[in-house]
Amino acid sequence: MKRILITGGCGFIGSTFVRLQLNAYPDQEVVNLDKLTYAGNLENLADIASDPRYRFVRGCIADDAFVDDLIAGDRFDAVINFAAESHVDRSLQDSGPFIQTNVVGTQVLLDACRKHQVPRFVQVSTDEVYGSLGPTGFFTEETPLAPNSPYSASKTASDLLVRAYSHSFGFPGLITRCSNNYGPFQFPEKLIPLFISNALQDQALPVYGQGTNVRDWIHVEDHCRGIDAALRRGRLGEVYNFGGREEKTNLEITHLLLSLLNKPASLIRYVADRPGHDLRYAIDCTKAETELGWKPKIPFSTGLRDTIDWYIKRADWVHRIKSGAYLKYYADQYGGRLA
Ligand code: NAD
Ligand code: DAU
Repeated sequence: MKRILITGGCGFIGSTFVRLQLNAYPDQEVVNLDKLTYAGNLENLADIASDPRYRFVRGCIADDAFVDDLIAGDRFDAVINFAAESHVDRSLQDSGPFIQTNVVGTQVLLDACRKHQVPRFVQVSTDEVYGSLGPTGFFTEETPLAPNSPYSASKTASDLLVRAYSHSFGFPGLITRCSNNYGPFQFPEKLIPLFISNALQDQALPVYGQGTNVRDWIHVEDHCRGIDAALRRGRLGEVYNFGGREEKTNLEITHLLLSLLNKPASLIRYVADRPGHDLRYAIDCTKAETELGWKPKIPFSTGLRDTIDWYIKRADWVHRIKSGAYLKYYADQYGGRLA
């Protein structure tokens, strides 16, 4: 696999994946197509930006002429689609960008890959397509799709497009579905980085409802190793689930963070629940373990401490995001081309 196209490589998981590829495979060439939405940050890849094997291209996956040109002009051995609107709460405020990027964008990529015969396509998806679990049981790859938020509905639509292209055209696609990621470079709108950065500034931690919802946490590097295994060893047409086997309630996470940061429980604020809030996610990743020889390696206790240390050391990164200064950097860098 000489040259791969990664979409959404300036986001949290995509940037970790780009770094992993360049570090793990000395001959790997990576092109990163990213629109640089509010969630895309060039700083996330500042350490590898001048690597001669890496090229950044600014653009939108839903721009069909642009995507067709890019894929026609290069011989990619695979396309891995990370690009998405990824935050559930934003999808409840306005689902438009979610349909545009997650659904239309995926369709545009599929058509260009099909037309130019890209030999492998990986759709990076989520366990949220399976809906919500009760107190027991796990999502397997056979669990019926039952998305509950506009975000998860848009991700389900894109998964179904990949499935339909595989079925109808023999398109060489496969899908990965992962549970909640945490780790460095996660945008401070998601639970863990939001609560770390708020607590560090002695600001309130807004817990939705009673804080009893459960998520299965996985370190972003474990997820990226899983996507890499699916890319290189996964069977076309298949779905692979990834999870950390680390179920925690939101309140457990909140108290753990406060105690690791030596901050008081009085920072907790119980706020109105998220509409349609999924109660519990838990992944059965036996298929990935047996077929791909993958398993999560980073225990949550270690991964969370390291993540806290990272957010303390990189307070400048968080500050530039929260103050909007990182957007000014784009404006300076890209002038009138800033979307
Ligand atoms: P993120 O929001 O941090 O990053 C998304 C990236 O996509 C950004 O760099 C953004 O600029 C880019 N992007 C958005 N719209 C685009 C467009 N139209 N064209 C090109 N680029 C565009 O997201 P993340 O948390 O890194 O998630 C990456 C992928 O993994 C998403 O597909 C998400 O659904 C999936 N996923 C996330 C998690 C999680 O816990 N964060 C878990 C499972 C799956
Ligand atoms: O399960 C995978 C999914 O995990 C990904 O597909 C999504 O892209 C990713 O954003 C994440 O979705 P969640 O909605 O589970 O993540 P979030 O960090 O937004 O919320 C985690 C839990 O914490 C959820 O139960 C809602 C709760 N929460 C979140 C925020 C932001 C709060 O209680 N307060 C908050 O302020």
